[in-house]
Amino acid sequence: MEKTPRTIGVLTSGGDAPGMNAAIRAVVRAANFKGIKVLGIQRGYQGLLNGEVRELGLRDVCDIIQRGGTMLYTARCPEFKEEATQDKAVEMCKKLGIDGLVVIGGDGSFCGARALSNKGIPCIGIPGTIDNDIASTEYTIGFDTALNTVIENVDRLRDTSQSHDRCSVVEVMGRHAGHIALHAGIACGAIAVLIPEREYNIDTDIIERMQDTLKTGKHHFIVIVAEGIENSQEITKYIQQKTGIESRLTVLGHIQRGGIPTGKERVFASVMGYRAVELLEEGKGNRVVAVQNSRTVDFDINEALNMHKRIDDYLYKVAYEISI
Ligand code: ADP
Ligand code: F6P
Repeated sequence: MEKTPRTIGVLTSGGDAPGMNAAIRAVVRAANFKGIKVLGIQRGYQGLLNGEVRELGLRDVCDIIQRGGTMLYTARCPEFKEEATQDKAVEMCKKLGIDGLVVIGGDGSFCGARALSNKGIPCIGIPGTIDNDIASTEYTIGFDTALNTVIENVDRLRDTSQSHDRCSVVEVMGRHAGHIALHAGIACGAIAVLIPEREYNIDTDIIERMQDTLKTGKHHFIVIVAEGIENSQEITKYIQQKTGIESRLTVLGHIQRGGIPTGKERVFASVMGYRAVELLEEGKGNRVVAVQNSRTVDFDINEALNMHKRIDDYLYKVAYEISI
């Protein structure tokens, strides 16, 4: 039976996401409630290596649940892939008295957590990325807020597209995944959604669909393109050339990474933060917290990282067929 930690660390790693502060707050409050000390590690694994920590008490996480970003900052630290660097992190944990670690981030961050767990520092991962591309969970912190940010901005674009009889092509984030794009496509009534997980033919999937719906009286269009498609500018020009409809590209970019976390975000992040502390208190490590069928569960990190996430075929079908 592994021992209950006396002091745990918490860090945020990889791309930041709205809701991370809610998770941090839950970790700190749950641990303090259980008599476990919390050290906030700033700037991800880089901060751990540098010993950039400060103790977090109940009042240190006041008024953050409603704020985007992460109070612990985040950073990318490519050298953490090297075992020698990981060994330095283990030594730093021992120096600081950290005997458990909560890592809030994506799959890359979970790989770091696995390495530390295998070296004797029990780690629990919490899925935090707007991409929602972590296979072990149906929900990642940041996704709901990012989706609603996209919706709010596409609704604004729809106003001006409608006024000018235009086509708005909107590039959204997702790194290599189309979850934001697909959900936004349905929520915003896009005529087409291009995602890296699906082949597409611009002539049949966009141009001909626009020409057919023009005949039914539709006179403005929204096309959502995931950033993984990588040629949204060329797509926009091609649409205008082939249809004669003025087309404009909007790249939403890092707007999607900020904003006030939604209610769903805050609840999921808080519950996952609480569960991470429970797992450490139970003497567990090398696990990731996840949401399956709207319930909070947990998996061994190796099992989680070996899972594969697919685009929901039915969702893709709905997006295609109701957008005519
Ligand atoms: P995300 O966690 O959102 O996937 P990254 O892929 O950028 O974001 O990973 C965040 C950090 O996790 C990296 O900067 C690095 O410090 C660490 N990391 C990523 N991959 C590994 C790996 N294979 N082994 C150890 N640490 C890793
Ligand atoms: O992983 C989250 C994410 O926002 C991706 O959607 C995006 O491609 C990437 O981070 C951008 O990374 P950076 O903030 O380092 O430019």
